[in-house]
Formats: sequence, structure tokens, C-alpha cells
Amino acid sequence: MDLQTVRRNAAEKLEGTCRVCRHCNGLACAGEVPGFGGIGTGSSFISNVQVLSRRKLNLRVLHEARDPDTSLRLFGLDISMPILGAAVAGTRVNRMGGIGEHQLADAMIRGPRLAGTVGMGGDGGDPAVFDSTIAVTSEVHGAAIPVIKPREQHGLIERVRRAREAGAFAVAIDVDAAALINMKLLGQGVEPKTQAEIGEVVAEAGIPVILKGIMTPDEAAIAAEAGVAGIVVSNHGGRALDHTPGTADVLPSIAGRVKDEMLVLVDGGIRSGVDVLKMLALGADAVLVGRPLAVAAVGGGAEGVRLQLEEYAKQLHVAMMLTGCASLSEVGRKVLWEV
Ligand SMILES: Cc1cc2nc3c(=O)[nH]c(=O)nc-3n(C[C@H](O)[C@H](O)[C@H](O)COP(=O)(O)O)c2cc1C
Repeated sequence: MDLQTVRRNAAEKLEGTCRVCRHCNGLACAGEVPGFGGIGTGSSFISNVQVLSRRKLNLRVLHEARDPDTSLRLFGLDISMPILGAAVAGTRVNRMGGIGEHQLADAMIRGPRLAGTVGMGGDGGDPAVFDSTIAVTSEVHGAAIPVIKPREQHGLIERVRRAREAGAFAVAIDVDAAALINMKLLGQGVEPKTQAEIGEVVAEAGIPVILKGIMTPDEAAIAAEAGVAGIVVSNHGGRALDHTPGTADVLPSIAGRVKDEMLVLVDGGIRSGVDVLKMLALGADAVLVGRPLAVAAVGGGAEGVRLQLEEYAKQLHVAMMLTGCASLSEVGRKVLWEV
């Protein structure tokens, strides 16, 4: 199997849902939520890709970074690359024909393990979504991050407990899903969370808690106060609110505020190892990739996801070499070209 075959398979299976564009930039699928697109005008998804592509790198080749090391340690787990699989779930509501919920969770969690990194699993209006996440999390001995919707407090804590019992080494809450269309369509309650409620989840969890969907420094500071172990700077791939900025633009001020206190992850529009390097230079410790891995999952299962992640890792390795970074700790603003 190669990536071209994986993408061809995916295009057939996702016909009518995702066009598997050469450049996955949110233009062709604008407004397609449910589906694979960004909400409303598609502006938030499109901005993620655009602001990232506007950043340029300084090419440097007079140094000793001949074989850069892309590995890092995440909450005690050694991983091969600073690239995690984002949660992409909800095969029925998002009309992902040709793949079942358990199959998707398997590919999105086991694929990253095959590549030496970790993936996330989703939660949704259909109970099969979280059940699949939990089942696959157990199968990989907890090397996965279940992402739970911001449900009312009792249901949220109950799912955090299930994640811990499945052995998950960390758990996340996609707080930006506080009004998600896909949940409302299936009659499931989600809501904005207070600092006290997040603090209660942290106290109950017993494993590191990550908040996914932080887009401002003040909310990052609230997350820190509540005691979370990490955040994902994310606008849910542009699926939550129309006209939010691209994540690469808000990342530096957020990382500047909380990076010493917690892990800072980011997602949105990352489509290559070069994009990964840009996000790290802007302040992230690691990144998440969503749609391209979901496409690989549909077209090639866990093996397809492994191939796509390994391609990104190779590109990152070359990009680090050509910007003079021997390890991830050497990646910083000097990598970015600024006028
Ligand atoms: C079809 C689809 C389903 C998604 N389901 C979830 C989910 O269940 N939980 C979650 O936290 N994020 C979900 N996301 C958002 C992703 O985790 C991630 O934030 C986003 O896709 C990143 O942007 P990218 O796709 O441009 O890489 C979903 C995204 C898509 C496209």
C-alpha cells in the first residue's frame, strides 16, 4: 500500500462527503458541517490553512544538525514525533460511508501507535462513538487520549472515569464543542464550562486533563488556574464558530502566557512536516492533525494513518535539518523569517 492508493480508496468511499482535495484547505467543502467542512462561510477552516501558509522559514545549512531528533516525551510516554492524531469521529452524522465507528477509532488510534506516536478518540451524540474510543483505548493499553464533549457535569465526569478505567494516560475535553451542531442534531446537551467545573473534573480525573479548543490567552490562563495539564489551541478545525482567526495567528500570545505551566498543543490546517515545524516555532510543544489522517483512515485503515504520519515525520526531519535544529528543543522563533 502507498499513500496514493490510500487517497484513491478514500475518495471513492467518501464520495459526496469529502473530495479528498490535493490541498485540503476548506474551500471546496465550505459550510459542510455535518460533513468534513468548516461551519458557515468556512472562514475559520480556510483561515487555519491560510495563516499557516503565510509564515516563511529561514533556510540555514551551515551547522551540525545532520540527523535531527524528532522525538519527545508526553506525560511520561516517549513518542517518535511531535505529531498526534486528532479526534475525528461520528461516521453516521458526518456521512462517512464505507467505514464504521469502531473501524475509524481503530485506525485513528492504532495508526499513530504504529508510527510511534499517539492518537485521540472522539465522543458524540451516537453512543457508538465513545464506546469505540474506550474499546480501542483498552486495546492499545491506554496509549490514547479520549476526547470528551463538554456535557453536563455528571455525564462528563462519568466519561472521564471510563477513560481512566480503560487505562488512558491522559484525557481531553473539547470545550469548543459547547454548542456543536452535531450534538444538538442528536439531542445531546453540551454547554460552556466554568473554571470551577473544570477544576472539579481535574480533581476527579486522576490522569492529566487537556482542554481542547482554547483560542485566547485569558482562557489559557483560566485553564492553568483550573489545574489542567495541557491545552490544544484549536477552533475545532473551523467547525464550531464562523470567522475565528487561524490558530497559527493566536498561538504565540497563548503560548507566551502559559507555556511554562503546561503542555501547549495546536491543530488546524497542518498539512506537512513544514507546517509542523512552523507551529513548533510559533510556540507549540506538539501538533494534532485531523482531516488528512481521517482520509488516510478511510482509505487505508491503521496502516494508511501510519503511512501519512511517517510521511510528515520525514518532512519534519528534513525541515529541521534545513533550518538548523538538531532537536525539538532547538526549534524557536529563529526558524521563522520575519520582515
Ligand atoms: C469529521 C470531523 C469530525 C470530528 N470529530 C471530532 C470529535 O469527535 N472530537 C473532537 O475533539 N474534535 C473533532 N473534530 C475536530 C478535530 O479533532 C480537529 O480539531 C480538527 O479536525 C483539526 O483541523 P484539521 O482537520 O484541519 O487538521 C472533528 C473534525 C472533523 C473534520
